[in-house]
Amino acid sequence: MEPKHPKDSKTIVTDLVLPSETNPLNNLFGGELLARMDRAASIAARRHSRRIVVTASVNHVAFKKTIPLGSVVTVEANISRAFKSSMEVILDVWIEDRESGVRSKANDAIYTFVAVDDGGSPIGVPPLEPETKIEKIRYEAALRRKQLSLVLAGKMDPKDATELKALFE
Ligand SMILES: CC(C)(COP(=O)(O)OP(=O)(O)OC[C@H]1O[C@@H](n2cnc3c(N)ncnc32)[C@H](O)[C@@H]1OP(=O)(O)O)[C@@H](O)C(=O)NCCC(=O)NCCS
Repeated sequence: MEPKHPKDSKTIVTDLVLPSETNPLNNLFGGELLARMDRAASIAARRHSRRIVVTASVNHVAFKKTIPLGSVVTVEANISRAFKSSMEVILDVWIEDRESGVRSKANDAIYTFVAVDDGGSPIGVPPLEPETKIEKIRYEAALRRKQLSLVLAGKMDPKDATELKALFE
C-alpha cells in the first residue's frame, strides 16, 4: 500500500458548547468532550485507511482547562502512526477567546483506532510517512505508547515490550 501523510487525513471539527452539554458548573461535560474527540479521531482514521474503523483504546486524556458554556471548541485530529491494522490518533483541543479570537490549548488525548472489514476483523492500513518535525517526534514515540497500551490491556507480556523497556534502561 502507498504511504500517506498526516495532512491527508488531518481532521478539524469546530463547534459551540450548548447548555445541554455542560456540568453543574456550566463547563463542558467530560464525556461530551470524549465523544467529540472520538468523532474527530474516527474521521481522521477513516480518511487514512478508507475503511470502517473502531475505537480500540483511549490511551491518554488530559483535561487541563475547563471549557465554559458558549465556548467555541476546535478539536484537531492527526494520525501520528499507522501499524498493521491500527492507527494512533493524537487529539489537540483548542478554545478561542470571544473578543480577541486568540486560541488556547484546553486538552489533549491519544486514541487508537483499528480498521476492520465488513465482518469486524482487523484489516491492513497504509503506512504513515511523517513530514514535519512534530510529526516525526510523535511517530517515533507511538510504538512505545502502543506497547504500553497493550501491556495495560493485558494483550502484551511486559517482557516483550522492548521499546518501552528501553526508556528505563
Ligand atoms: C479493536 C478490535 C477490532 C481488535 O480486535 P482483535 O481481535 O483484538 O485484534 P488484534 O489483537 O489482532 O488487534 C488488532 C490491532 O489492534 C491493536 N490493539 C488491540 N487492542 C489494543 C489496545 N488496547 N491498545 C492499542 N492497540 C490495540 C493491536 O495491537 C493490533 O494492531 P496492529 O494490527 O496494527 O498490529 C476488537 O477488539 C473490537 O472490535 N473491539 C470493539 C471496538 C468497539 O466496538 N469500539 C467502540 C466501543 S463503544
